[in-house]
Amino acid sequence: MADLDDIREGKDFGLDRPADLQGFFLKGAANHDWGLKNRLSRIFNPKTGRTVMLAFDHGYFQGPATGLERIDLSILPLCDYADVLMCTRGVLRATVPPSNTKPVALRCSGGNSILSELSNETIAVDIEDAIRLGVCAMAAQVYIGAEFEHKSITNVVKLIDTGTRYGIPTLAVTGVGKDMARDAKYFGLATRIAAELGAHYVKTYFVEEGFEKVAAGCPVPLVIAGGKKLPERDALEMAYKAIDQGAAGVDMGRNIFQSDAPVAMIQAVAKVVHDLEKPDQAYQYYLDLKAAQG
Ligand code: R5P
Repeated sequence: MADLDDIREGKDFGLDRPADLQGFFLKGAANHDWGLKNRLSRIFNPKTGRTVMLAFDHGYFQGPATGLERIDLSILPLCDYADVLMCTRGVLRATVPPSNTKPVALRCSGGNSILSELSNETIAVDIEDAIRLGVCAMAAQVYIGAEFEHKSITNVVKLIDTGTRYGIPTLAVTGVGKDMARDAKYFGLATRIAAELGAHYVKTYFVEEGFEKVAAGCPVPLVIAGGKKLPERDALEMAYKAIDQGAAGVDMGRNIFQSDAPVAMIQAVAKVVHDLEKPDQAYQYYLDLKAAQG
């Protein structure tokens, strides 16, 4: 019987011993069915085990945010350089050409806005439509510790159950409300809960202190959100540290599409993620591409 007595913080994360992959290249995925593994193999590059997801789903609660006013102009030129596109079905149908062959991670929760309580979401896409769109993953927020924690967990559980039935993985996105903690203890808790519930991979944020334990304590792959716009070198350094400490990629939006040179930035991010390029070299690569692109 689970209870709240004597809860002790984790101490031994075995940081010197990598997780046993049991014959499949992706952590925690060895026992999934063929279709699910195949979709995960389109999301994560089997050669590196990592991914660069381009996130441009922010409009589902933020409206036309900076850089996303005209997705046809700002985002479509970036798609060739991304491994995965993360967006809503509205933008997918309205703006992304059906000839696109990049895998899509579909934002499947919604029902809130920046004017209301962020954690009050519902599932906003039926599984049939996700299948019709041919997506490779479905995504919803879990708001651990927020007012609507239970409801957000229920949303993700429903996606996991319906998605698993049809071989579609679920990405649980650890949402952070306005006043919520953003430290390793919080993200360790939130990502682990999502994985225990069956999420196939989890999006979190990078934290300077203790990220390695967040990644080690999560039995499925983690990708990091970029968060608010940083100077390009800082964003590349954040990506580098996250990958170096166990993340399996990024799901990055603003630090790419709000960059001075988004096409150069996404290529520099990919260098870090797939080639483990060091921040200084990746930044120089960004500057060189930016100069060449005029
Ligand atoms: C957040 O809820 C959105 O779903 C974004 O996908 C996510 O935050 C990643 O974008 P960014 O790198 O801009 O934080």
